[in-house]
Amino acid sequence: MTIVPAIAAHGLRKSYGDKTVLDGIDLTVPEGTVFSLLGPNGAGKTTAVKILSTLVSPDRGSGEIRVGGHDLAADPQAVRAAIGVTGQFSAVDGLITGEENMLLMADLHHLSRARGRRVTAQLLERFDLVEAAKKPAASYSGGMKRRLDIAMTLVGDPRIIFLDEPTTGLDPRSRHNMWQIIRELVADGVTVFLTTQYLEEADELADRIAVLHDGRIAAEGSAEELKRIVPGGHVRLRFTDPAAYHAALAALGEVTRDDEALALQIPSDGSQRELRSVLDRLDTAGIEADELTVHTPDLDDVFFALTGSTVPVQSSKADQPEEAAR
Ligand SMILES: Nc1ncnc2c1ncn2[C@@H]1O[C@H](COP(=O)(O)OP(=O)(O)OP(=O)(O)O)[C@@H](O)[C@H]1O
Ligand SMILES: [Mg+2]
Repeated sequence: MTIVPAIAAHGLRKSYGDKTVLDGIDLTVPEGTVFSLLGPNGAGKTTAVKILSTLVSPDRGSGEIRVGGHDLAADPQAVRAAIGVTGQFSAVDGLITGEENMLLMADLHHLSRARGRRVTAQLLERFDLVEAAKKPAASYSGGMKRRLDIAMTLVGDPRIIFLDEPTTGLDPRSRHNMWQIIRELVADGVTVFLTTQYLEEADELADRIAVLHDGRIAAEGSAEELKRIVPGGHVRLRFTDPAAYHAALAALGEVTRDDEALALQIPSDGSQRELRSVLDRLDTAGIEADELTVHTPDLDDVFFALTGSTVPVQSSKADQPEEAAR
C-alpha cells in the first residue's frame, strides 16, 4: 500500500504581474505531521497557503497539487471539505460574541442546530473561552481572538489545517498556549501546515521545515538536519588574565583565538562529553576561565546562512545572553 501524503505539490508557481512570488516549489507533507513554511515578510507564505487551500489559483504550468488525496484543480470542493484554514488576519467578527461566531461557522458547515451547539460548546470549553463566550469578540485579547479563530477552523472537523502565522503578535505566554493547542491537534492525527517568521516556533513544532527565499525553497529538512547545514557549534572561553589565556591556548590546541578579547572558541557539538573533555584539559593544566558559554547552532544561523543577514527575521535570539554579549 502506498501512503498518500496529506499535501503534495509539484512545481508550484505564482506571479503577480511581473513579480514572481513562487518560482516552482515542491512540497510534500505526510499525514499527521507538522510542516512549517518559514520566510520573512513578503516571501510568499500566505500565497502558498491560499493556493493550497483553493482560495487563489496557481499559475498555468504549475504541476499537480493534491490535498487530502484530492486533485486541487479537478476537485476543489473535495479539498475544501478536507481542510480548515486559519488565515493570517482574523476571521473573527468583532461585533458578535465568540459563541455566535462559532455558531455561524457551524451553519456554514451545514451542521444541524443541535450538533452545532454541541460542537460549539465543546470547542469553547477546549479553548478556554467559556467565560468570554457571551461577550462581543471585539473585547477579546489578541490571544483569545487567535484561539477563537482556531476553534472556528475546527468546527468542520478538518483533517488538514493551515495556520498562517498563528502566533505573530502574541505575547510569550499566549504563544506557548498556541503551541500546546497545535501539539494537541497533531496528537489527534491532524496534519498541520504552519507558516511562521519565528525560527524558534518551527524548531518547537515542525517535523519538517522549508525555508522560502526568492520564490524557491532554499533548504528543507528537520530542524536538526537544517542546523547541520551550518557549522558554528562551539564553546567560548573568556579570560581576564592574559597568562591564563595563553596557558589555555597551549593546553587546548585546535582553537580559534581572539587576542583582543582574550577569548577562545573550541569547535563543539555542545554535548556533555565534549564539554567535559574541554573542562578536563583546562583542569589538568590548572586553568580557570572567567566565563564559559556554549553556542549550539540554531535555526537563526541556518536562516542567515541561507538568506543573508540583512533579512529582518523576528526571533527571540536577541534575548539570549550569549548573543547579547556578542
Ligand atoms: N493579490 C496580490 N496582488 C499583487 N501582489 C500580491 C498579491 N498577494 C501577494 N502579493 C505579493 O506577493 C508577495 C508575497 O506575499 P505573501 O503575502 O504571500 O507573503 P508572506 O510570506 O505571507 O508575507 P508576510 O510575512 O508579510 O505575511 C509580496 O510581494 C506581495 O506584495
Ligand atoms: Mg503572510
